[in-house]
Amino acid sequence: MRADDTIQCHVLVIGSGGAGARAAIEADQYGETVLVSKSLAGKGGCTPMAEGGYNAVLSAQDSCMLHEEDTLRGGAYLNDPELVRLLVAESPARFAELLSWGALFDVTSLNEPAQRSFGGQRFPRTCYAGDRSGHEMMLTLLERLRESGVQLLQEMTVIDLLISDNRVIGAVALDTKSEMTIIHAASTILATGGGTRMFDISTNSATGTGDGFALGYRAGAELIDMEMVQFHPTGAVYPYDARGRLVTEAVRGEGGVLLNSRGERFMARYDPARMELSTRDVVARAIATEIEEGRGTPHKGVYLDVTHLSAATIEERLPVMLEQFLKFGVDIRKEPMEVAPTAHHMMGGLRISPQCCTTVPGLFACGEVTGGVHGANRLGGNALADTQVFGRRAGEAAGQARNVSTRIDPLQVKELEERREEYFNGSIPPWSVVRKLQRAMWEGAGIFRTASSLHHTKVILDEVSSAPLRAATAETCIECFTARNLCCAASLVVRSALLRPESRGAHVRRDISPRWDAATSPYGHTYISRSREGIESRQVIE
Ligand code: FUM
Repeated sequence: MRADDTIQCHVLVIGSGGAGARAAIEADQYGETVLVSKSLAGKGGCTPMAEGGYNAVLSAQDSCMLHEEDTLRGGAYLNDPELVRLLVAESPARFAELLSWGALFDVTSLNEPAQRSFGGQRFPRTCYAGDRSGHEMMLTLLERLRESGVQLLQEMTVIDLLISDNRVIGAVALDTKSEMTIIHAASTILATGGGTRMFDISTNSATGTGDGFALGYRAGAELIDMEMVQFHPTGAVYPYDARGRLVTEAVRGEGGVLLNSRGERFMARYDPARMELSTRDVVARAIATEIEEGRGTPHKGVYLDVTHLSAATIEERLPVMLEQFLKFGVDIRKEPMEVAPTAHHMMGGLRISPQCCTTVPGLFACGEVTGGVHGANRLGGNALADTQVFGRRAGEAAGQARNVSTRIDPLQVKELEERREEYFNGSIPPWSVVRKLQRAMWEGAGIFRTASSLHHTKVILDEVSSAPLRAATAETCIECFTARNLCCAASLVVRSALLRPESRGAHVRRDISPRWDAATSPYGHTYISRSREGIESRQVIE
């Protein structure tokens, strides 16, 4: 490795979505900050694709107590209450900051931020920019990032964190020519987003390969509740290439209704009080059940209908949905959409403190790569708020951390170079491993699980994890490293799912009959790290 391949900085941020960008903007105030992004900055992660909105308590009729209660109840009481308190308390200030930086969200006739209803919330507290809220937020953050002193390294993929004396001291990244760069940092922030690309059908862009979970795990960090994967109730079902693409919850927030092939508004059977605006775990299970029991549409979905809304409302509030479905040959002003559940968000992830410290010194984390904020099921609109609240916290804590003089371990770098060489001499293309993994995860670790389906999936994951991956080109060398991460992240999900002997939030074990409800469950977090694995017992206050 040549000396000019080494970069020194105070804070290294990995990931350029909402959380990473916000963390870098904050960290920049404390010292030299480098942000590494495997895509063009801001183009890859989930933030730009988030349509529905950003939750914040802004009205005198709403309250932080109500938002906290909704979040905890929605999360099946598996959330870390202190992280929830911070999310709710700081989200309004972070929203105001975005507006002051130029973000254009919709407003009411009184020029106040407009807010819409989202599932599981007793107040319409989701602020929005039509149905392109995340895109608007990302544009604002990118502009701010470009005005800052943050050094951007784009289209570079971090392949491992650097460890010395049990602390993280930076990372090694690979560019599209397969050249390695060492980034030596006092503090490192993982903001790599989620990994639902491990499922056959997902809302995530191609970058959602669970890198951060794998990087953190290999560095020795503890992860919690990795079994908690959110299946968004409404993804596109056709055309084939668009399968899983997000059909925003805002459609239901604006009054969209779900119907089965008999024309029944079936949510009345699953949650008569909240109907289509029940929590995502409940709505996704209801849709999956309707389809499974033969009341689905010809494309194996259910109908989502907004034809009772005025054309003007649809054009103004749901322009992206209108355009997207017109491309699929459906005019949603006149005919219903067909939708089905799609893997969307990871609620589990790296265990963090309120300062976003992970369990490994020198390593911080924020956004979807962390666990604890959303418990067993996330409320729509809480993710964008999460990126800003914990992105800022991570940037501040990492920026304020002291420099600790550490030496890069040449053996670790050599091992990565050897692995790169191995990939050029392997025999199995990474895409074939990924396809096998995605199908196995969808079938065995999806919305409904049993011990036997999980064990079967684990066998397949063990098999694909040891496949001799082959890099035919420099670019597929990166794919080999990311396929390895996807295997690791998927295996963390399955191993954690086997640890939780109950159905809770998004985790449904069909082979276990419920003996308690979420509030009285004797179980707390599942935890998994290289050195320990288990499930916590929980003090239940009767
Ligand atoms: O449905 C949506 O617009 C997604 C929002 C979210 O995941 O928060």
